[in-house]
Amino acid sequence: MRTPIVAGNWKMNKTIAEARELVNALKNDLAPLAATDQVEIVLCPPFVALPQVAELVKGTPIKVGAQNMHWEAKGAFTGEVSPTMLNEICDYVIIGHSERRQYFGETDEGVNKKIKAALAHHLKPIVCVGENLAQNEAGQTQQVVGAQVRGAFKDISRDDARGIVIAYEPIWAIGTGKAASGAGANSVIGLTIRGALADLYGEATAQAVRVQYGGSANAKNVTEFFAQPDIDGALVGGASLVAADFIAICKAALK
Ligand code: PGA
Repeated sequence: MRTPIVAGNWKMNKTIAEARELVNALKNDLAPLAATDQVEIVLCPPFVALPQVAELVKGTPIKVGAQNMHWEAKGAFTGEVSPTMLNEICDYVIIGHSERRQYFGETDEGVNKKIKAALAHHLKPIVCVGENLAQNEAGQTQQVVGAQVRGAFKDISRDDARGIVIAYEPIWAIGTGKAASGAGANSVIGLTIRGALADLYGEATAQAVRVQYGGSANAKNVTEFFAQPDIDGALVGGASLVAADFIAICKAALK
């Protein structure tokens, strides 16, 4: 049995004061949900608000994640944040989000380095994969997403692979209000993503890895995703900024 994981990716939103307000609006509802152990809940604020958010959820089962990191532990990398800085306050780190790939030139090779660095510093990676609209329309989804999974997991051991969360986020669904269908996402996750994992590690590991859906997931459509056998929760952008919506999504993951 895979425990669903719902993560809120706040992206470049929320000042420290606004982050405090949002966590205070979420905490009393989310802590008891997370305490059931039937859903894992992760808040991923921008770096600047991370320490504040970590402090506010301390002592609750709500977890905290970063949205990115560098692979080096320290050094002359102006503007970057390292795994050693994050593992004091974070449980998770999002790696290879499509916005990082699209706007900041991240490659499968860099994603692979970051995953290895995260694992070496006891951070759990949430690795994002997904095809863009042109690739989707050209029937290249399987090829693109399969290659991203193989690139991300290159030279990663079976034991480590089991602890990695994958987020399937079709780029055409992110922030567009046009979510994938539950069945469509389930099929990419089941056939392509678990298929690639099965080739690399065997069927048992492919079935053990948790794979979220992301892309315009909201309080209304999320039950359709959570009802799918291969989908283990959601990576939520826009709807994670609205307390009532994110609470509703986390509740839906329990059923
Ligand atoms: P969205 O973003 O829910 O706003 O579409 C999801 C994501 O990019 O993680």
